Amino acid sequence: MGMLEEIEKLKEEATASLARIKTPDDVENFRLKFLSRKGSLAQLFEEMKQIPKEEKPAVGKLLNEVRTQLESDFESARQSAESEKKLELSRIDLSVPGRKRYIGRKHPLTQTAEEIKRIFTGIGFGIADGPEIEDDYHNFEALNFPPDHPARDMQDTFFVKYPPAKEGNGTGKYVLRTHTSGVQIRVMENNKPPVRVIMPGRVYRNEAISSRSYCLFHQVEGLYVDKNVSLAELKGTITYFARELFGSGVRLRFRPSFFPFTEPSAEVDVNCFICSGKGCRICKHTGWLEIMGCGMVDPNVFKFVGYDEKEVSGYAFGMGIERITLLKYGIDDIRLFFDNDVRFLNQF
Ligand code: PHE
Repeated sequence: MGMLEEIEKLKEEATASLARIKTPDDVENFRLKFLSRKGSLAQLFEEMKQIPKEEKPAVGKLLNEVRTQLESDFESARQSAESEKKLELSRIDLSVPGRKRYIGRKHPLTQTAEEIKRIFTGIGFGIADGPEIEDDYHNFEALNFPPDHPARDMQDTFFVKYPPAKEGNGTGKYVLRTHTSGVQIRVMENNKPPVRVIMPGRVYRNEAISSRSYCLFHQVEGLYVDKNVSLAELKGTITYFARELFGSGVRLRFRPSFFPFTEPSAEVDVNCFICSGKGCRICKHTGWLEIMGCGMVDPNVFKFVGYDEKEVSGYAFGMGIERITLLKYGIDDIRLFFDNDVRFLNQF
């Protein structure tokens, strides 16, 4: 066989073998066999030294062409084998077991607030809100807390310097609202009677933090004003609400109390469903749990908002969302609501 034929044969063989390259191993084997210093191509160059002079130009030319061709084909085969390998590594293994995904859930306070809203909107109450930085007038004065009246001490108030910049140190007439009752005033200022709304929101009190009290908590206020609203309607509405929230077997007790903005006033207790009245730590051995304050809107409050106190009457109530949630689930530390420890939150 002449040299030229030998070269052609090598070319065919190498081309066929190039086409079969898939893995980096194939690449290396090909290189060793054909292109390395001891490979078949190098051997042919070696053989060329022995052939007659006049054959050299033709053989040399062909050999060089074949080498250039093979080297460039080899390079592209090498690259595609490499990217194939990378793709292989990044491929998703569908047989690997999945990671468990935790589904978020609503905070227990949100759940209670939503339940309270559901119950009251179902009997025709609208929803209103107001600012958390409240002026003294709405938080106290218009609710019939006269200036310097000791009733203001009922609520440990955070006073704020506000508005901040313009008036130097502020007016001293602003507070972090201590209750949602100020929203009652705002609603009545902006609406003619009848009004029937609940007002959920966050409130603040400067109390020592303990298992029973925190510097902030949430309330839902209620207000109904119309002609001839009676105490019996207040009792009926609250009773309906408590049965919806705690179950139809719940028993209620209205205890006389005092709030500057309601007259008469009451606090509402439900029978302790933890010990069913026998007496336990949660109900402090009384058999009863306090859930809210309420009363008939004081005529003085109507005067402040420009309602005719001879024409209309109304009732108001206010409850703490934390307190109700604590009672509902038998939780013994209010701070748990604010730690946001998922081990706690996951239980609701
Ligand atoms: N604002 C009262 C409190 O925070 C609750 C209340 C609201 C009482 C409405 C009567 C009427 O304690």
